[in-house]
Amino acid sequence: MSQSEIKNSTIMEKLTWRYAVKKFDTTKKISPQDWETLEESLRLAPSSYGMQPWQFLVVQSPELRKKLTPLSWGQTQIEDCSHFLVIAIKSKLDEAHIEKHIKRMAEVRKIAVSQLDGMKKVIFGDLIQGPRSATINFWAQRQSYIAMGFLMETAALLNVDTCPLEGLDPKGYDKVLNLEGTGFETVAAVALGYRHPEDKYQFMTKVRFEKSDVIKYL
Ligand SMILES: Cc1cc2nc3c(=O)[nH]c(=O)nc-3n(C[C@H](O)[C@H](O)[C@H](O)COP(=O)(O)O)c2cc1C
Repeated sequence: MSQSEIKNSTIMEKLTWRYAVKKFDTTKKISPQDWETLEESLRLAPSSYGMQPWQFLVVQSPELRKKLTPLSWGQTQIEDCSHFLVIAIKSKLDEAHIEKHIKRMAEVRKIAVSQLDGMKKVIFGDLIQGPRSATINFWAQRQSYIAMGFLMETAALLNVDTCPLEGLDPKGYDKVLNLEGTGFETVAAVALGYRHPEDKYQFMTKVRFEKSDVIKYL
């Protein structure tokens, strides 16, 4: 028996209800209360060492969204959805970012920064000086996809539709969104809102490998 107040059957229902929406209903908007929860799902997502090497851009301006459409293989979700979110990562994780995190931890947990010297040394030795520093950009990208997953799962629980989007030109996005020179760069995006009743994809059966193909017990 489940120890959660959320029923297993409810979770299954939401997981199968979710699909990558191709056509959004332009008349329906996400409520401020739901949006607040969705933002928190991003902020509360876990990341390696808790480093949060990301920034989430909510593109509200219709003009900006219009400019992003041709940079997204012409996908219509960018302009039709209620909320369009671009996921950006820190281009290069530096000492300043680690210090920002350590300072924040000391502040939130009401301890002296010096108490975190050991932790700072470990993180610095790994991400800045260690072999992982050579692929730090891929590391940051991996973290950002966890946030994307949290967002989509939370959305499904709230009956909010989503479409994750990797079909875009990250460099083009950086230009349009004025990210160049900010230390952040585009990775992917998520369109959120409500499915159009005529989006045929909602009626298609999910295609997944058999459980025994992807889940192994050792
Ligand atoms: C990281 C990622 C990027 C994706 N990019 C796009 C995209 O650019 N456009 C699109 O229509 N669907 C995109 N998809 C949706 C996938 O095609 C879809 O999730 C997959 O076919 C499974 O179908 P379902 O999500 O409807 O169950 C993307 C999915 C993920 C996870």
